[in-house]
Amino acid sequence: MTHVTFDARSAWSRPDARSAWSRLDAPTVIRTKRDGGVLSEAAIDWVIDAYTRGQVAEEQMSALLMAIFLRGMTGQEIARWTAAMVASGERFDFTDLRRDCDGRPLALVDKHSTGGVGDKITIPLVPVVMACGGAVPQAAGRGLGHTGGTLDKLEAIPGFSAELTKSQIGRQLREIGAAIFAAGELAPADRKIYALRDVTATTESLPLIASSVMSKKIAEGARALVLDTKVGSGAFLPTEAEARELARTMVELGHAHGLVTRALLTDMSVPLGRAVGNAIEVVESLEVLAGGGPDDVVQLTLALAAEMLDAAGLDAKDPAETLRDGTAMDCFRALVAAQGGDLTVLSVEPATGALPIGVHSDTITAPRGGTMGDIDAMAVGLAVWRLGAGRSAPGERVQSGAGIRIHRRPGEPVQAGDPVFTLYTDTPARVGPARSELEGAWAVGESAPPVRPLIIDRIAATV
Ligand code: URA
Repeated sequence: MTHVTFDARSAWSRPDARSAWSRLDAPTVIRTKRDGGVLSEAAIDWVIDAYTRGQVAEEQMSALLMAIFLRGMTGQEIARWTAAMVASGERFDFTDLRRDCDGRPLALVDKHSTGGVGDKITIPLVPVVMACGGAVPQAAGRGLGHTGGTLDKLEAIPGFSAELTKSQIGRQLREIGAAIFAAGELAPADRKIYALRDVTATTESLPLIASSVMSKKIAEGARALVLDTKVGSGAFLPTEAEARELARTMVELGHAHGLVTRALLTDMSVPLGRAVGNAIEVVESLEVLAGGGPDDVVQLTLALAAEMLDAAGLDAKDPAETLRDGTAMDCFRALVAAQGGDLTVLSVEPATGALPIGVHSDTITAPRGGTMGDIDAMAVGLAVWRLGAGRSAPGERVQSGAGIRIHRRPGEPVQAGDPVFTLYTDTPARVGPARSELEGAWAVGESAPPVRPLIIDRIAATV
């Protein structure tokens, strides 16, 4: 792929580009990409605008997305597609705001993950960064394919609302230092395309992931951005080479739009932590905020926090200290309260917390003793999706209580008959299909599987 060089501010609104729109139609755009051609700037601007306004049909955009999935895009096409998605809605600017506590300018910084299994990192990370003086305007997403979404997880907290107005987001940034919200009028083209990709098997595409992530992040008003780019079976792009390419593309897109942007490449071969689902991941996040939780979740939270603080030019506080001294937990409670969530359910005791976990449970046990081997993240993601944590039709309601608890992580000792996974759902008929997804996805062996680094590499802009 060629490098992304694009002046996002000037090209989109050129009148000559707009006049070319009158000669464009969806079948021609689809055919061009289907046959391996390069879409012109005018074609991209037109199709994104027309689709956002409901003038390109869902089936036409589905066909175009599949053509992009199969044929790919050049760097210039990705840059234009991203800019057109940004231009489909509002772009927030919070740079004039000051913190209420001391009148200092907001250090506006965010992170985004390319999607993983058990990836609840936003939930502990945002409060850690708040407690260190950052201001996080996070436009978050819902579940996509086999991966969970931060909004679906946080909405497991009764009353929590992600539908925030711009002034509410600004107020939260000033008063408490964060807001986690549905993108709403930010990049509305992405909102429609994201939902369509989720149900048309077009998620695993570098141009579509890069433009989806970056359109929201450019529009949301952060000045610095850290991208958690996943590598491994549970990632949309499983190979390291593809993930590197994705990270570089996103970093360059961010840079072209004036954001300090970096990426970490992180392992997603096995699920993160011991909980995968919606409410169950919030409970695990609370454990981390209370100073405990699984090592990998804590390590990744702190690594991303350090990158975010560095990118935002903040070095006053050690992120790990905020988990020990309770200030990150206080920030999380302030965030949930500001967004209408019920604080009484934010308990880490008993093990499943006070949040609603699926009423039916089913436990899979070890057939023999030994050492737990690798657990295939994709299989666990699909199993959780089958239990009801994700969608198979646009707009479907997800089950807050659906999820899987992983009792034995790779490398841990296990006795014959020990619980390995507990599956939770409100719909007993979903258990069989979920169990089938897990068949062959894990094993107990004689020795521990090879240890992989959680953080594989760090990628920063070269320009
Ligand atoms: N996150 C997004 O916002 N979009 C994607 O396509 C994948 C992850």
